[in-house]
Amino acid sequence: MTQSFRITLLPGDGIGPEIMAVTVEVMNQVGSQLDLEFNFQEALMGGVAIDATGTPLPADTLETCRQSDAVLLAAIGGYKWDALPRHQRPETGLLALRAGLGLFANLRPATILPQLVEASSLKREVVEGVDIMVVRELTGGIYFGEPKGIFETETGEKRGVSTMAYKDSEIDRIGRVAFATAQKRQGRLCSVDKANVLEVSQLWRDRITALAADYGDVELSHLYVDNAAMQLVRWPKQFDTIVTGNLFGDILSDAAAMLTGSIGMLPSASLGADGPGVFEPVHGSAPDIAGQDQANPLAQILSAAMMLRYGLNQPVAADKIEAAVNQVLDQGYRTGDIMAEGMTGVGCRGMGDAILKALA
Ligand code: IPM
Ligand code: MG
Repeated sequence: MTQSFRITLLPGDGIGPEIMAVTVEVMNQVGSQLDLEFNFQEALMGGVAIDATGTPLPADTLETCRQSDAVLLAAIGGYKWDALPRHQRPETGLLALRAGLGLFANLRPATILPQLVEASSLKREVVEGVDIMVVRELTGGIYFGEPKGIFETETGEKRGVSTMAYKDSEIDRIGRVAFATAQKRQGRLCSVDKANVLEVSQLWRDRITALAADYGDVELSHLYVDNAAMQLVRWPKQFDTIVTGNLFGDILSDAAAMLTGSIGMLPSASLGADGPGVFEPVHGSAPDIAGQDQANPLAQILSAAMMLRYGLNQPVAADKIEAAVNQVLDQGYRTGDIMAEGMTGVGCRGMGDAILKALA
């Protein structure tokens, strides 16, 4: 019997539409092989939404997302919208989508593929075999804490304020996702904070430590964020699963991503307690190469695989896509960002065609 899924597509800006088009073809091919039907519905978000409606996340886009089984997002933003007031910026739409769907858990894997070891700026022996999952809290912390704003002081000087705050319940729910994630991996969880300075981090550390009692099979450790950044580039293989707050997770996940040398390869998943998750590549909209058929679609395609695995509970389809990506890399196909000597250079479409052929 055919299983069908409603999927909202948010192609967004820059290279978004090209990598999304290729990914839809890949999903359709896998779907037809496994008797899965995907009903795609496209909606506006980001700069395109600002141009069409004046706001980066129109209400009907959020509603369409809510009505679907999963949301596949490409990338948003570009120079054109950078100077707009904050409430109209593409990034504000992304934060509103996360908050609106309650997506408090952001899973960002940084896995180095053996075919791409040379793409890393670090030595082979340091990165070979790296397989890290960053679990980033996504709807709290300093991104959303109150008070926030730019206020005028009595002396007429302006004062910018953002507040880093976490409640017990916010720490516990992301902590539980992280422990459960570590259980399914190598059973090691490192919690990252700044408890030597910040009260909010002290509470974070206390709660995560208390949770450990429920997960006897997970080995918990703690690092201060500055040390964690250093350890990530010194000896990344010491990490299995990392759990941290919104801001530290933003920074550390970029660093972890770059260990692999190819941010164009990395997918991510943002999940809530229930309802649809959002799946998107870690990279941005790359406006400098938009529309030139140069973009690497693999992070988007791997995001679709993550959607199938974590959002739609279709591990067989996810495995198929991941195997196809592996195969085209083995065959030597490379987009510009991961090109190396002796490999076959392809564009976005060419890479998509290679994946389709690998699946066939
Ligand atoms: C990310 C991005 C976003 C963030 C920006 C675009 C708002 O850097 O997803 O990591 O800071 O969360
Ligand atoms: Mg970021």
